[in-house]
Amino acid sequence: MHGKPLLDVLAGRKPSRRPMWFMRQAGRYLPEYRQVREQAGSFLSLCYSPELAAEVTLQPLRRFDLDAAILFADILVVPDAMGLSLDFTEGEGPRLETVRDLRDVERLCEIRRSDKAKRVCETVGRVRSDLPEKVGLIGFCGGPWTVASYMVEGGSSDRRLAKLAAFGRESWFRALIDRLVSASIDYLAMQIEAGAEAVQIFDSWAGDLPEGVREEFVVGPLAQVVDGVRRLHPGTPVIVFGRGLGVDHLEVMVSCRPAALGIETEQSLRWIYDAVGDQCAVQGNLDPVALLGSVEVARAEACRVTSSVPMERHIFNLGHGIRQETRPEVLAEVVAAVRRWDAGKV
Ligand code: CP3
Repeated sequence: MHGKPLLDVLAGRKPSRRPMWFMRQAGRYLPEYRQVREQAGSFLSLCYSPELAAEVTLQPLRRFDLDAAILFADILVVPDAMGLSLDFTEGEGPRLETVRDLRDVERLCEIRRSDKAKRVCETVGRVRSDLPEKVGLIGFCGGPWTVASYMVEGGSSDRRLAKLAAFGRESWFRALIDRLVSASIDYLAMQIEAGAEAVQIFDSWAGDLPEGVREEFVVGPLAQVVDGVRRLHPGTPVIVFGRGLGVDHLEVMVSCRPAALGIETEQSLRWIYDAVGDQCAVQGNLDPVALLGSVEVARAEACRVTSSVPMERHIFNLGHGIRQETRPEVLAEVVAAVRRWDAGKV
């Protein structure tokens, strides 16, 4: 008996079909998203309105034959819920109150008590009760290194200040990472308790640090989050997406023992698949840019990714988030092409 394809692959069971979802599958490329976003007034009020956030989480599933819903929220909900003021200005990206010394770290609040975190979890509960039968629900948070870099810099950046804090092994920065490790464990546990069936950690800047500091500030903290979640919820699979790690995905696999590794576009999916053997599944890694041209190009790239790894150990996805300029019709063609390719191989 097959269950949900996403959960089957994450558990190492044979799925009824290759599970597929797309990072940032709910978002501005969908006209129906833009409409609800306008109704909410701002991106953050959308994140904190359980009814509207649940609606946009489910929108891509109505359009495309996908195997997972991903909670609609943002990785910066964690610092916001810890008491740092956050603002998303149109066209400029996030603006966040900064953390640059021990006093700033000590002022951060407990996420378990945060009303904002509770509202996100209410979204999880609503989505779970409306979920199509074979679709899995993924909760998420950011990796400690990536979230810390936004907190130190105050927004999108080249992570220069965060890197210097890591190179200098600053004690306040270590304290910040420790606070983010425990906040991430609590936040993911809350989502699981609210109905998330799997969780993904987005460490978008995991490739930033060289050997030597990487273990201490990127991989070690990731492993602590995965261990913490596993201790509280041993049955819930964890996907680790450490973007830019290259061959060091293998180090993450050994330290974190995740159910799946998310692989960025720049890395060979096949190489990682061969190297991890049966120890975990791989997720990825179609280039989001391949969806911006002709349908033929998108189909060809999607089939190349699909043919490189067997469906028993693969979750089809992009190597990074979907671009705003993506035409929804192209995404629909990609889904159809992957389904056709797999049907031909049965
Ligand atoms: O995948 C999904 O559909 C779930 C929702 C989700 C969002 N952001 C919604 C969002 C997830 C999982 C994220 C993760 C996220 N957020 C990451 C990690 C993944 C990655 O892309 O590297 C990061 C670094 C962020 C921080 C963030 N959020 C930035 C830098 C920005 C501004 C840039 C941009 O694309 O506008 C956001 C905004 C954001 N998060 C939007 C969405 C749909 C667009 C906001 C809008 O609707 O105006």
